[in-house]
Amino acid sequence: MNPPAARYSRISGTGSYLPPNRLSNQALAEQLAAQGVETSDEWIIERTGIRARHFVADGVVVSDLAVEAAKRAIEAAGCTASDIDLIIVATSTPDMIFPSSACIVQQKLGVQGCPAFDVQAVCSGFVYALTVADAMIKTGAANKALVIGAEVFSRILDFSDRTTCVLFGDGAGAVVLEASDTPGILATELHADGRHVNILCVPGTVSGGQILGDPLLKMDGQAVFKLAVGVLEDVARSVLAKAGKTEADIDWLIPHQANIRIMQSTAKRLKLSMDKVVVTVDQHGNTSAASIPLALDTAVRSGKIRRGDTLMLEGVGGGFTWGAVLVDF
Ligand code: ACO
Repeated sequence: MNPPAARYSRISGTGSYLPPNRLSNQALAEQLAAQGVETSDEWIIERTGIRARHFVADGVVVSDLAVEAAKRAIEAAGCTASDIDLIIVATSTPDMIFPSSACIVQQKLGVQGCPAFDVQAVCSGFVYALTVADAMIKTGAANKALVIGAEVFSRILDFSDRTTCVLFGDGAGAVVLEASDTPGILATELHADGRHVNILCVPGTVSGGQILGDPLLKMDGQAVFKLAVGVLEDVARSVLAKAGKTEADIDWLIPHQANIRIMQSTAKRLKLSMDKVVVTVDQHGNTSAASIPLALDTAVRSGKIRRGDTLMLEGVGGGFTWGAVLVDF
């Protein structure tokens, strides 16, 4: 008897969505000044590379953004929502405590029956979700997965804390990942180190109908910065080794879009020119789990990334969590 044919997963379509309200640094600085919080376009650009971010309007929830990105990815993949047999949403800002945002996305897409669940790994959420979907496709548990990263971080920002509120934005990105007899996802690797829970967190919770603790984002920016550059270098090298590749094989590095300086340090350590790094943090800010699929879709639709390119996707964030996915696009 012949062995079963090898089964892989491949990205067949990408999509993204940004809420229409775009806020430049200047506009944000003016809003903050009205509350007595001082910042400037110059400070934000110099320390972060961010020039603008998008914020949702009142009443818009994460599944609203996710479903728009999903529809675009499904269209790009040339299929319909009813072909999807797995939905994973990476988010830290879900519509509700439960059910999952993935179930709400499924309802909004007008389909039912397939498994749907959320992954919570903060800014590493998309690489976690993509890794889970890849594994489920390889085992035969799914054939066509919708993998979404979506966030409304504007809802958890402390607008009296200038060290964090200027950094983040809202948005969503998605891919359709489908079974293939040739490899698309070449290698994956995920990590977490719970010793660093407190350097980036939203420590509040709901109990007995009350909010317990602080429900707004807290960050030790310098601790995050130091950890991020080290782990992003290590995990990139490890994933390349697993796939039998080297840095020279990378056509595009798509790191989590937290801060241009983290991306520059990572590129330098990997001996990659910044010309090979997809940068959207300037226009989107840090959209946490949405940042990688948003950057991917932006680069695909602009014609920068082409079929056959080798992509290194890298996430890092609260937990502390990090991971990488090497893709033959
Ligand atoms: N506007 C003006 N001044 C500011 C602002 C602001 N928005 N924020 C801080 N400052 C001031 C501080 O008060 C401080 O003033 P002082 O010297 O008078 O005390 C000065 O700027 C320097 O502050 P630092 O915190 O030392 O600034 P730093 O150069 O470290 O930059 C930053 C802060 C951008 C957060 C940096 O630490 C960083 O990039 N960290 C990485 C964390 C990150 O990007 N996180 C994103 C989320 S995590 C993730 O996605 C992985």
